[in-house]
Amino acid sequence: MDLKGRDFLKLLDFTREEITYLVDLAAELKDKKKKGIPMDTLRGKNVALIFEKTSTRTRCAFEVAAHDLGMGTTYLDPSGSQIGKKESIADTARVLSGMYEGIEYRGFGQDIVEELAKYSSVPVWNGLTNEFHPTQMLADLLTIREHFGYLKGIRLTYMGDARYNMGNSLMVTCARMGMHFTACTSRKYFPAEDLVRQCREIAAASGGSITLTEDVAAGTKGADVVYTDVWVSMGEPEEVWEERIRELAPYQVNRSVMENAGPQAVFMHCLPAFHDLNTGIGAEMGARFGIREMEVTDEVFESGQSLVFQEAENRMHTIKAVMAATLQETKGTGLDRNEI
Ligand code: CP
Ligand code: NVA
Repeated sequence: MDLKGRDFLKLLDFTREEITYLVDLAAELKDKKKKGIPMDTLRGKNVALIFEKTSTRTRCAFEVAAHDLGMGTTYLDPSGSQIGKKESIADTARVLSGMYEGIEYRGFGQDIVEELAKYSSVPVWNGLTNEFHPTQMLADLLTIREHFGYLKGIRLTYMGDARYNMGNSLMVTCARMGMHFTACTSRKYFPAEDLVRQCREIAAASGGSITLTEDVAAGTKGADVVYTDVWVSMGEPEEVWEERIRELAPYQVNRSVMENAGPQAVFMHCLPAFHDLNTGIGAEMGARFGIREMEVTDEVFESGQSLVFQEAENRMHTIKAVMAATLQETKGTGLDRNEI
């Protein structure tokens, strides 16, 4: 397996074997980190981290992972560079390619990260766009595999806004990996028909399946993983909050959903989550709409079924795997699958 030089823009671009390789590599790097074995095989290299939207996990994961691999990082924040305002994506790509060995991009349309990759001569990694969040997918797969011991056949139900980055990405991931994906939400929030069609074709070949349902009882029954995300994503207008709370409240992950899923079920969320009033937005929505929690109840979030912090840690190990695999020949570094 050699992914050197490849971009990491969306999982649709990767085969099941390649995705499995990255998850295996992440597990190996995690094990090495826990044992204190240094893996700074990319000493002397540097990566640029472009964030046009804010971040805690993704930024920290890239910075720590790069440091562990021996690399330097430059963080470009949403306002601190010329990107978009004074300099095009194509020009930015060529400038950064001359100074860095890799470029992470978090921003708006998927077309922007694809454009960056087109003009860049070094690997580009998608740190979240409106449409996809591929590095989150590797962390989720590692977390699910650590918990259940396998991926194929896992039943994952996604509740909430299934037509945005997380719903889209989980549907693609399940289709590729032979898992059963259910979007359990109001019809208006189902993923786009074209992507559903594409994923159904992929699932037919992998042994997975794609189900769309508005019925909470049917959609969550027997789920191994119940997954949700914020009801309003970064970059969406403030005005949509009221409508989202009204329309998605029936799809909140709460105790009755988890009980209906069954004792095997775990709860996952990419985070950040609105599960109490201890955030600025959570408190504001609490005061405006008389609610204490949104997409997930505090009870489920804090329960023994919740894998959210293991999932968050795995962002770092999986992002490290993506950088390690795309920046170097893994053969001979102790990171090749055959050597693991
Ligand atoms: N899950 C995730 O991408 O979190 P951040 O927005 O904090 O990076
Ligand atoms: N759907 C969320 C994911 C955050 C990690 C957003 O785009 O804001």
